[in-house]
Amino acid sequence: MVSWYLKNRRDLPWRQTKDAYLIWVSESILQQTRVAQGLDYYIRFTTLFPDIFSLAAAQPDEVMKAWQGLGYYNRARNLHEAARDVVHNLDGKIPTTYNGLVKMKGIGPYIGAAIASFAFNEKIPVVDGNVIRFISRLAGIYSADRKNFLSTVMNMMDSEEPSLFNQAIMEF
Ligand code: ADE
Repeated sequence: MVSWYLKNRRDLPWRQTKDAYLIWVSESILQQTRVAQGLDYYIRFTTLFPDIFSLAAAQPDEVMKAWQGLGYYNRARNLHEAARDVVHNLDGKIPTTYNGLVKMKGIGPYIGAAIASFAFNEKIPVVDGNVIRFISRLAGIYSADRKNFLSTVMNMMDSEEPSLFNQAIMEF
């Protein structure tokens, strides 16, 4: 899967960085949005707010304006609120583990796994409905047992870079 990805991956800006903030922004935008639509927003948003401090210092209406047209505005509100939380309560340091990340507003298991693996190379798979369908077919898993499924994915990750493995799944 990783070798397929290395040959076929699209060149996307959030794949050029290990910056947890930039990855967080990209995954927040992409959660309910296609890459083709999200790309311009990502570039505009990260130009306006290049780091967590500039986002935390922004007014809510500036943030909403940058998000205008993308929909699902709670994503922007949560991201802004969480940025303020990090700056005011965590000394500006984004948590570096999956368990720390999913405590932040708006970071669920999927975005948590994406940030933990891309920025910090933690071995934790991204899992949503699409991933479950894809891996189930690939590995011939027909049971609906989520625990069993997760341990199979963890085994598949054993010999791969976690960040490449998750990007490959997403790209597929
Ligand atoms: N969709 C959600 N996250 C993505 C990513 N990192 N790359 C491409 N598509 C995505």
